[in-house]
Amino acid sequence: MAGQLDISSTMGNISMFNTFVHPSAQSRVSEVLSTTFLSEGKLVKEFEARLAAELGMVNPAALNSGTSALHLAMAVSGIGHGDEVIMAPQTFIASAISVVQEGATPVFSDIQYETGNIDPASIKDKITERTKAIMAVHWGGYPCDMDEIHALARQYNLIVIEDAAHAPGATYKSRAIGSISDFTCFSFQAIKHLTTGDGGALCCTGSENAREVFRRRWFGIDRAHSPVSEIGERIYDLTDVGYKYHLSDYAAALGLANLEGFEERMQYRRQLVRQYHDGLSQVSGVTLFEHKTDRESAHWLFGFHVENRLEFIRTLKAKGIASSVVHDGIDKNTLFGGKKMDLINQRRFDETQIHIPLHDALLPEQIEYIINTIKQGW
Ligand SMILES: Cc1ncc(COP(=O)(O)O)c(C=O)c1O
Repeated sequence: MAGQLDISSTMGNISMFNTFVHPSAQSRVSEVLSTTFLSEGKLVKEFEARLAAELGMVNPAALNSGTSALHLAMAVSGIGHGDEVIMAPQTFIASAISVVQEGATPVFSDIQYETGNIDPASIKDKITERTKAIMAVHWGGYPCDMDEIHALARQYNLIVIEDAAHAPGATYKSRAIGSISDFTCFSFQAIKHLTTGDGGALCCTGSENAREVFRRRWFGIDRAHSPVSEIGERIYDLTDVGYKYHLSDYAAALGLANLEGFEERMQYRRQLVRQYHDGLSQVSGVTLFEHKTDRESAHWLFGFHVENRLEFIRTLKAKGIASSVVHDGIDKNTLFGGKKMDLINQRRFDETQIHIPLHDALLPEQIEYIINTIKQGW
């Protein structure tokens, strides 16, 4: 958290993100190094148990990245050649790559201009007989309209996959993200709220899917039921393709350290976000994203719409403040078929969205400085 930063030296050098490493991480990780048991073992199990107990995740399987979580969700859900997955373009390319990896097609629906999240009304228009799943990306950590998405999924018999890379610790109608849909994918990459360096988790509400995730994250071998034979090799018969996607114990040690004080750090983020809201809600040329009271964002990003965006970015940069679009609509990529002009809100969002710094090391004084800079105009 904020801690002992020298305010005067950081006031004109404010980055978008930080990498949070808890002070206890060094000793936890070096303890693992001294045991030389580095790969998946008891610390991965402990990390998973704490993700379930403290963040409300259901059946979390710790993996080596959020991208692995997305791909494993595709594979275990049986999505393949000829299938379509409906998703919003407002995300990182990893979301759609995982679909293409399995030979399926990402089909882009429009977003809500007010949030960057998928618009349930637009999903319906994109459903065909080939649609197999809906992927809901919680942009910046703000949960999608899960009730509406699940109603459509029930009506058309579709799988729901949440890309919650930005949303550990978020809740929707008092339910933890990671406890709601068939599959929920988290990222613990370096600049996320909770980092293991690189890492991720895949949660499944169904126990059969969860068993498959645990089996296929390690080559498709069920380690618990494949004892080592007298001649020195595990006894197993491979029946389908598995992957090397498990997390390692040294990464889990970092994750366990970073879980210390996680809720306090989330509260601190919420405090910083309130400060931004109070300071920016009346500023001409700024339109804040919508925040409904039935859900709690994980606040990975603080975003809004701004007029004259390039001038805004340049003005902040001149004052030592980073700002970024983070990502714009990924449908523009040739691999995904190129920019779709019928996605009216995505195209509007691409033109006006912006994000300003939000992270654990940010001080209220720095937020004040950012607000005052914006208030002076651009
Ligand atoms: C929305 C989204 N999905 C998936 C990923 C992939 O996560 P990872 O980098 O852990 O593979 C990211 C990465 O930042 C992301 O922003």
